[in-house]
Amino acid sequence: MYESYYGLSGKPFQLSPDPEFFFGSRGHRRAMAYLEYGLHQAEGFIVVTGEVGAGKTTLVQQLLRRLPVNNVVPVQIVTTQLEAEDLVRIVASSFGLPTETQDKSTLLIRLEQYLRQLQTEGKRALLIVDEAQNLGARAIEELRMLSNFQVGTRAILQSFLLGQPELRDLMQRAEMRQLKQRIIAAYHLGPLDRAETQQYIEHRLAHVGWKNDPAFDSTAFDRIYALTHGIPRRINTLADRLLLSGFLSERHRLGERDVIEVAEELRLELGPRRGYQRAEGADAPVADAPPAASGSADEAAGQATLEAVDEALEEIGAQTPERVNGSPARPQRPIAPARMAALEERVEMLESTTGMIFGALKKVLRLLRVRASEATERDTT
Ligand SMILES: Nc1ncnc2c1ncn2[C@@H]1O[C@H](COP(=O)(O)OP(=O)(O)OP(=O)(O)O)[C@@H](O)[C@H]1O
Ligand SMILES: [Mg+2]
Repeated sequence: MYESYYGLSGKPFQLSPDPEFFFGSRGHRRAMAYLEYGLHQAEGFIVVTGEVGAGKTTLVQQLLRRLPVNNVVPVQIVTTQLEAEDLVRIVASSFGLPTETQDKSTLLIRLEQYLRQLQTEGKRALLIVDEAQNLGARAIEELRMLSNFQVGTRAILQSFLLGQPELRDLMQRAEMRQLKQRIIAAYHLGPLDRAETQQYIEHRLAHVGWKNDPAFDSTAFDRIYALTHGIPRRINTLADRLLLSGFLSERHRLGERDVIEVAEELRLELGPRRGYQRAEGADAPVADAPPAASGSADEAAGQATLEAVDEALEEIGAQTPERVNGSPARPQRPIAPARMAALEERVEMLESTTGMIFGALKKVLRLLRVRASEATERDTT
């Protein structure tokens, strides 16, 4: 939407990971070096943890692009798949093996045969488990079992585990002892620093043909860094909205004040949980920006989301059910195309937010289920 206004060839700040936009920050380069080192070892587990939105999935996508396609066969699974099925079945089907009618022991044999076959062809298998912080005890045990497959002294399956910081905690549990012994490298992906935050934004913009329009004041970058703590996903959300707001107000230079205004809007829509804390520190030096707010704001965020929806509906003159049944609806009035586009963008944003809220709830439920089953297992042993 704002792309043509600023002469950009595409959207610079998409939320979905896209290796085309890969920016090699110090942390990302080091993490990549760990992954490549691990890959070279050709066995065991490599673990990469990092904050939500720090770029773990992007990193793996980048790695996959660099893999020697002729001798590594990678498959990627996300742990949300593990709700209904067991890991062995999912891994087998990811490698393209038929899984429908087979019992688990037959499946294991087939999988091992397949991995051995790869080995004789001079190839090796790489299993990438994303969102690994959600793994349950049973899945972890199965992973460990798969890592035991060997030809002679060589392992025939290597695994990368990627996950949010809870994965680190998970690894500290007693039942992880055996798996831990097989970890050959672990790396925690931190946020970008101030300079990298600016470079990251400029890098993404340059990728879509940015010619310094809009131009950014240096204080705008300071503020973006202070508000997002250098987490790429938060930077993307904030920068995207900043450009939208620049376009709507027909500006070609954006400053700290613009960042603050947009952050405040986002804070109302998404809540401080996502890193856009109240911008009243605006007049304070950036270094004094408060740390990311923690857990307590979900309710407020939900409420703000609902209010924002209501407000958006009001604005387009839509009839909420009460109005249909009760007082007269507001008359329809024409809306300027730019305003319309902004509303559409906003509704999309709200849609993704509510999706994320439900995603988070599901994660909590999964975790509770794992805890409950572990407790039952403990009680019965
Ligand atoms: N090094 C990078 N270069 C370019 N874009 C990046 C980089 N790291 C992260 N991003 C962008 O930030 C956003 C979040 O990245 P990604 O989904 O990889 O994070 P994640 O750590 O896997 O998040 P989650 O914890 O939710 O799984 C994406 O839009 C991605 O494009
Ligand atoms: Mg991810």
